[in-house]
Amino acid sequence: MSVLADRFTHDILKLIDSGALEGSFADFVRLSGKSLESRAQRYYEWRRNRLEQGVWPFSTQLQSTPGPQVTVTDETGKERSGVNFASYDYLGLSTHTEVRAAAIEAINRYGTQIAGAPVLQGNSALSLRLQTAVAELVGLPHIVLFPTGWAAGFGVITALIRPKDHVVLDQYAHNCCVQGAMAATANVHRVRHLSTDAFVRQLRRIRSTDTENAILVVTEGIFSMNGDSPDLAALQTACREYDATLMVDVAHDLGAVGPGGTGTVGLQGLLGKVDLVIGSFSKVFAANGGFASTSSAAIREYLRPYAPSHTFSNAISPPQCAAALKAIEIVRSAEGDLLREKVSQVAHVLRETLATSGVVCLGKPGPLVPVLLGREAVGRITAALCFDHGVFANLIEYPAVSVGACRLRMQVMATHTRDEAQQAAELIGWACHFAEQLLDRASAAGPGASVSA
Ligand SMILES: Cc1ncc(COP(=O)(O)O)c(C=O)c1O
Repeated sequence: MSVLADRFTHDILKLIDSGALEGSFADFVRLSGKSLESRAQRYYEWRRNRLEQGVWPFSTQLQSTPGPQVTVTDETGKERSGVNFASYDYLGLSTHTEVRAAAIEAINRYGTQIAGAPVLQGNSALSLRLQTAVAELVGLPHIVLFPTGWAAGFGVITALIRPKDHVVLDQYAHNCCVQGAMAATANVHRVRHLSTDAFVRQLRRIRSTDTENAILVVTEGIFSMNGDSPDLAALQTACREYDATLMVDVAHDLGAVGPGGTGTVGLQGLLGKVDLVIGSFSKVFAANGGFASTSSAAIREYLRPYAPSHTFSNAISPPQCAAALKAIEIVRSAEGDLLREKVSQVAHVLRETLATSGVVCLGKPGPLVPVLLGREAVGRITAALCFDHGVFANLIEYPAVSVGACRLRMQVMATHTRDEAQQAAELIGWACHFAEQLLDRASAAGPGASVSA
């Protein structure tokens, strides 16, 4: 390990001086000036500096299927092979023989795309069957399909919410819902993560002055950045009390946890009882695409012409529909139970080993294991060390999380072995401590001093 870490030990002061460990995407959000190109230039320089200093872990290129062992190339062209904890393919279904066969058969029968928006000629027998399969899985009868999960969140909110309405979101709600809320109304309220009390206080505050307009409450089944879950029953009850509508994004939990793969909603005994459930096929379901589900036929029919990302975007393609359809079948089968059990075993080994290494993991048992690192400088060195040693996990910085709360997110697959989990967790534990100690020593030594590991 130490040979590859040498580049950091020897060059830490140079790296610090370069500025590549400083700044964040947050610095380039508010721009001014009339030239769009020069406004982008400052960001371009910051990114290039990080790239040149070897601390730019984003937009890597996968050379194989998104399995547990992969070869990855970074944006400088550096290639590494190793264990992959950066894939959303939690149950490993994107390489499942039956899923592949279903997608190929769909291509042979319908071609590679549907060539129409859903309100025009964008439906096929497969997309209609997919709607039924989703309805059965989530326990809500009325489904609208979207080209991605992001499009589902954005589309549902912009369709339903008007400028005088309110959207109350958990502070860590996904970007698709935040963007949808901001596009629809100025009345966007973000409340403390997982706090039912904070939601209730906000609802009470709104209703004390506004009894006329709608309120949409937005949360997630398993939070993508924290790996934890809210008390959905308490939120749904609060919504009823204050005439609000609850929407839960189940992108990461549907199929991956819960009885029969019914996600957090199923785990909490609320199948069919949540107002609106949205989700994605891009995690467990081996495809691109998303959906919104509701018990209200009226809401479904309203979304179809008024959700812009449904109405004005080409429909989910036949091979994607076929893959998702087959994946749902597997998710609901005994094989699905077995795969979920494997995910939970691997996640357990990861969490135990990380804890033994003295690293803080967020969230609860499930496919997401976020390792909290805090300072971006620590995160950037840790991520670079992990990449060099062939352990692939996603570095999460602002805007996905707040500045100073960066983390390495590990994503478990049923196809990982316990040994892979243990070795990756040990490496990550070592890399975090190494990065922290190196930076602490460098700052204690001050400019111009030499630092040893
Ligand atoms: C909670 C959540 N919702 C929605 C999405 C978007 O899904 P998709 O990748 O299908 O656009 C994601 C993606 O990571 C997510 O984490």
